[in-house]
Amino acid sequence: MPRRPIFELNGRTALVTGASSGLGRHFARTLAVHGASVVLAARRVDRLEVLAGEIRGNGGTAHPVRMDVTDAHGVEAGLDAVQEALGVPDILVNNSGIARPASTLDVTEDDWAEVIGTNLEGAWRVAQGTARRMVDAGRAGAIINVLSILAFGVAGGLGPYAASKAGLLQLTRTMAMELARHRVRVNAIAPGYVLTEMNRDYFASDAGKATTKRIPQRRIGDPSELDGALLLLASDASSYMTGSTIVVDGGHLASSL
Ligand SMILES: NC(=O)c1ccc[n+]([C@@H]2O[C@H](COP(=O)([O-])OP(=O)(O)OC[C@H]3O[C@@H](n4cnc5c(N)ncnc54)[C@H](OP(=O)(O)O)[C@@H]3O)[C@@H](O)[C@H]2O)c1
Repeated sequence: MPRRPIFELNGRTALVTGASSGLGRHFARTLAVHGASVVLAARRVDRLEVLAGEIRGNGGTAHPVRMDVTDAHGVEAGLDAVQEALGVPDILVNNSGIARPASTLDVTEDDWAEVIGTNLEGAWRVAQGTARRMVDAGRAGAIINVLSILAFGVAGGLGPYAASKAGLLQLTRTMAMELARHRVRVNAIAPGYVLTEMNRDYFASDAGKATTKRIPQRRIGDPSELDGALLLLASDASSYMTGSTIVVDGGHLASSL
């Protein structure tokens, strides 16, 4: 049997939200290295320009787009701009997200609105807008929602965040069921703790070090350790997968009992 390049992304276009830092920046680099043209979306366009320059310098294709996922008109305008520049994306990595740590008694209305508005409503808005364009164009597509192990387990002080990711898990399943007939697959990655700007201060603290000790692999992950799950879900290697979530967490969820 001949080898099949099932993880190949040549000729595909991938939209990555939250590409200005952390996991999103890494995901965009990985997709570009594996052949995809990447659209880099976030609010900090200066950072996107730098990343686009780096990807182009390495022979890839990258296109920055300003997009605030909490702004419905802005998302529509951004998706239109993407379509005009590079066509309807084949892949969406729905990665933008924020955390506003606070205990249940201290969470403010603003904390709640910001976290749910970005992680759940924002992700839904970008997924819906992208899926509509995929279906209208009659194109197959792969949507990858970035969850967290907090979609399944709980940690103190992250109620709105956990609720947003659990909500996005159910949206992943609903969208998968409804969009399968249109050849649009919707899956998710649920990372455990991976070192990025979002959590760098926390993991330098005593509480963060204590958390690290509770992870069976006794360390936090590196963004590159999500590449296998990303490339699987973005490519034809997962052609019969939809509605699935891949947990990548050093065994953290398995250790919760
Ligand atoms: N790092 C981890 O350990 C970990 C674990 C599980 C899940 N996750 C998830 O992974 C995703 C990326 O997290 P990260 O660790 O890479 O965090 P990060 O370094 O803080 O990056 C977050 C990204 O989200 C973007 N973003 C925030 N609000 C936005 C908005 N309103 N519109 C558009 N983009 C927005 C930011 O871009 P701008 O500020 O430029 O807009 C930034 O690029 C998040 O969904 C997070 O929940 C992370």
